[in-house]
Amino acid sequence: MNPTDRFPRTHLGQFPTALHRAAPWQVDAAAPILLKRDDLTGFGLAGNKVRPLEYLMADAVKCDSNVVVTGGAAGSNFIGACAHAAAAVGLDCEIEVAGEPMDVWPVPLLMAQSTGAVIHFTGLDRSLINEQVEQRAVELAAEGRGPYPVPRGGATAVGGLGFARAAIELHEQCNARGTDPNQVTVVLPVGSGASIAGILAGSDFLGALWKIVGVSVSRNVDQMGGIISDLSTEISELLGRGAPSMANFTIIDAVGSHGQELDENGGLAREQAFRGAGVLLDPTYGVPSYEIISQITRESKDTLVWWLTGGLPGAIESLAVMGNRGSVVAENV
Ligand SMILES: Cc1ncc(COP(=O)(O)O)c(C=O)c1O
Repeated sequence: MNPTDRFPRTHLGQFPTALHRAAPWQVDAAAPILLKRDDLTGFGLAGNKVRPLEYLMADAVKCDSNVVVTGGAAGSNFIGACAHAAAAVGLDCEIEVAGEPMDVWPVPLLMAQSTGAVIHFTGLDRSLINEQVEQRAVELAAEGRGPYPVPRGGATAVGGLGFARAAIELHEQCNARGTDPNQVTVVLPVGSGASIAGILAGSDFLGALWKIVGVSVSRNVDQMGGIISDLSTEISELLGRGAPSMANFTIIDAVGSHGQELDENGGLAREQAFRGAGVLLDPTYGVPSYEIISQITRESKDTLVWWLTGGLPGAIESLAVMGNRGSVVAENV
């Protein structure tokens, strides 16, 4: 039995997401590369974020909440996805946004606005947003509302169940393809840590011996390692187990590798991934993980699973920032 089935879940995405070979891009790889397509989860542009939201929204409904409160940077994929998910289950949503209002709103913020979410620009640094979310929840409760606070990225034990479920999904897919899960290295980008913590908990439950490599884009490895260890333990406890083994887990520091806008190396990496593997990467999560994948595939004999997490809003926005490198033919001049 799937241990995550014991928890309420609202079906929002389309699962399992595809796991397929990145055929045209195999040129200098020592072993097969498989793409896990969480960029194509089928719920708006939520990407992998719909996984935690399926459990978080079900929990919010179970707790008789009527307003979901979350927050993050203006370009956070999670805020757009969370507002969308709240609207889908009939809950109100408030978003605490880091920083000041900007002239041009990033797509996730526009998506949140389009669902009717209330948006507060807090003027605060992103690191203070979780406290602000809690504070706003206290205010709403004092007004007689039923708030359901969700920290950045949906990084709670309940949210992490969605990724524990994803680990079980991947394990089944590997078995169905005849790929030995113990000869697999899984690589994914890390922001809040919710995804990788859930995958660690799910892998531990299965006894899967695959290697898991996290590419940390916003916190240094010491800080991130502590967050992942705590969160994966909480998720494992929900699954009725103790702290998961970290023996096969590595975290790589990619903090500040590109940020919202790509430098020249990042731009080239994005082009290679687009032409070679056919995937459009965002600057914050996708490109740094591609750069790590490119290093690992030259050395490792393991089948490599590259977890594509989404980020399509940022990917499309970054195309505009980089400008057009091709030739432009102006007609009717
Ligand atoms: C596209 C994308 N990939 C990866 C991540 C990182 O996931 P997590 O926050 O679960 O570590 C995020 C987080 O916002 C994201 O939007």
